[in-house]
Amino acid sequence: MAPVVYIQDIDRYVGQEVTLRGWLYSRTDKGKLQFLQVRDGTGFIQCVVFQKEVPESVFAAATRLTQESSLIVTGIVRQDPRAPGVPGGYELGVTDLQVIQIADEYPIQPKEHGVDFLLDHRHLWIRSRRQWAILRVRATVIRAIRDWLDSHGFINLDTPILTPAACEGTTTLFQTDYFGEPAYLSQSGQLYNEANIYAFGRVYCFGPTFRAEKSKTRRHLTEFWMVEPEIAFCDLEQLMEIEEQLVTYIVQTCLRERARELALLERDTRPLEKVEPPFPRISYDEALELLAQIREETEDENLKELLKIEWGSDFGSPHETELTKRFEKPVFVYGYPTKAKAFYMEPWPGRPEVCKSVDLLAPEGYGEITGGSERISDPDLLIQRLKEWNLPREAFEWYIDLRRYGSVPHSGFGLGVERTVAWICGIDHLREAIPFPRTLKRVYP
Ligand code: 4AD
Ligand code: MG
Repeated sequence: MAPVVYIQDIDRYVGQEVTLRGWLYSRTDKGKLQFLQVRDGTGFIQCVVFQKEVPESVFAAATRLTQESSLIVTGIVRQDPRAPGVPGGYELGVTDLQVIQIADEYPIQPKEHGVDFLLDHRHLWIRSRRQWAILRVRATVIRAIRDWLDSHGFINLDTPILTPAACEGTTTLFQTDYFGEPAYLSQSGQLYNEANIYAFGRVYCFGPTFRAEKSKTRRHLTEFWMVEPEIAFCDLEQLMEIEEQLVTYIVQTCLRERARELALLERDTRPLEKVEPPFPRISYDEALELLAQIREETEDENLKELLKIEWGSDFGSPHETELTKRFEKPVFVYGYPTKAKAFYMEPWPGRPEVCKSVDLLAPEGYGEITGGSERISDPDLLIQRLKEWNLPREAFEWYIDLRRYGSVPHSGFGLGVERTVAWICGIDHLREAIPFPRTLKRVYP
């Protein structure tokens, strides 16, 4: 009996007979020859059925196969540099074929479909080659994040999803009924991370977060995954060093382990190869000057208008896109206006209108992938901020407590998984960077 193997390991079996279990991706009928593109979840391979080399029943079965039919196929592994697939260069000379199910007519055909149609069929769309490649990169991004943090002294602690208060502003809260009381889906685990550092020093949470984003953009999901490291005794500069090391490790791991997937996506990896510490650091004020300069240089009136910004506002996508085009590596923008950011950020020494915040903007126009800051460590200032931001103090009593019992300077950040995946894969919309995207207009399937 031939061993059952995975396509990703096929190079170990050249010249041997093996069995693969999977699905028919496509079939080309050349009369006496049937070319079956088969996928098994780990890769794609061409299986060649030659009428003269197989029993009549096997050949008949091959000709009946429809797209996405499930099957078990046995054959001899041949090396052929022209053979398509992932990994390319191998094909299977079929000796036996067992059909598990003949699939109904498959809605996703090898032709162009509209995005809405594809999203309605997301449960099937994920089988396609491009989506398969993107989601494999995603899995590697997630593993790289965990590997790096776990091997740098961080403890993973989960934070709650049902919460009594906002972390990132009340306008994007999802409210739910908690036995007659309002509760909110977590926008960020940060506040709980801040409790956890006092017990564990360096921590991270990693889970889904929720924002009722009412605008329809390619960079916003209503449910997205975020990793949030938080570190005791850490200032803004040390935070940036941690971020650039983590991001570099993620990118390098993908380049090393997901080269095939990136090639399939036709990602030009040269810009990614440049990602290594140190990343440039510019202040918010410098970023505004740069934007003014870009506005002066451009002839595009539309862009001039889009890039208008007053001191005090946070950047929108067009600002980030244009800024990052000026840098080859990800760039840190630090020192945003206090009013543009969340309530918990430590003020800049001697400049209370500015806070010790930092965003990391990915190059090639991708924009913000992380947001972080040094946190307020003084209880009185925190209480004042809660008032200024109109937040209910009762819900934050526990959070104020953290400043009463052994308060220390501390910092942390959140890195959005889908934004990072979109950048590394070179795709322009977050909806492809998560298996089942949730957006303003979509909770199905
Ligand atoms: O900048 P944000 O809002 O920061 C926080 O939530 C902090 N509490 C994190 C912390 O300091 N622990 O979000 C962090 C990152 C963004 O940089 C972005 O990558 C991602 O989360 N993000 C989103 N991704 C997809 N869709 C959305 N609607 C997102 N909002 C934020
Ligand atoms: Mg942000």
